[in-house]
Amino acid sequence: MNWKQERTHSLSEHPEGIMIAGKNIILRDKRVADAQDDYAWQTDPELARLDAAPVLILSFPQYLGNYADELYRSNSTRRRFGIDTPDGKHIGNCSYYGLNEAKGEAELGIMIGNCDYWNKGYGTDAVTTLVSYIFRQTNLKRIYLKTLESNLRAQKCFQKCGFTPYGHLNRDGYSFALMEIHRKQWEQQTKAES
Ligand SMILES: CC(C)(COP(=O)(O)OP(=O)(O)OC[C@H]1O[C@@H](n2cnc3c(N)ncnc32)[C@H](O)[C@@H]1OP(=O)(O)O)[C@@H](O)C(=O)NCCC(=O)NCCS
Repeated sequence: MNWKQERTHSLSEHPEGIMIAGKNIILRDKRVADAQDDYAWQTDPELARLDAAPVLILSFPQYLGNYADELYRSNSTRRRFGIDTPDGKHIGNCSYYGLNEAKGEAELGIMIGNCDYWNKGYGTDAVTTLVSYIFRQTNLKRIYLKTLESNLRAQKCFQKCGFTPYGHLNRDGYSFALMEIHRKQWEQQTKAES
């Protein structure tokens, strides 16, 4: 993927990597110091249920053993970000993955792991910021995601970010709502907001 050289006003290089400012959040590269939060979130049954994921069954030292390797392994089809509040509190993670240059698309994922920060607009802020970053910095035409049909909060959040439903998927006993946003929609939305 040829990332565009153009930089937006809200994007800056930092000694610790990239920092992308949203309205009330900052997206930044993942770091080893996130391991404790990530472990707590991946071993939380409620978060696993909402994410249709298995609860992680590893001790923290076992988890930490692979964490840095996994974090720094180069992978051009995905990128992971920590979500911080402006005062530097790590409240969640978001990412794109499955980047397909030929099709011009990638999948987006998000989790606000700290439930004290649910329903306060942080998810909408993080997704809006990541979508803008992807469309500004790449030539991708479409970003898509899936979430459980039962997760109405997530669907409302994505809808507020401009995603629209395009189908359903039944997999492994789960029913997912599929949502997408096309570059054209995003451009119209951005124009309307400016
Ligand atoms: C899903 C998630 C990213 C959303 O982020 P968030 O910061 O909580 O969401 P926001 O506050 O930006 O937006 C949520 C919207 O859903 C609404 N909402 C909350 N519960 C709802 C429900 N049961 N039904 C309908 N709408 C609901 C909120 O009122 C808000 O809309 P409003 O701003 O118009 O009032 C976050 O809650 C999260 O990560 N949760 C835990 C893990 C999870 O769900 N994982 C799956 C993600 S695909």
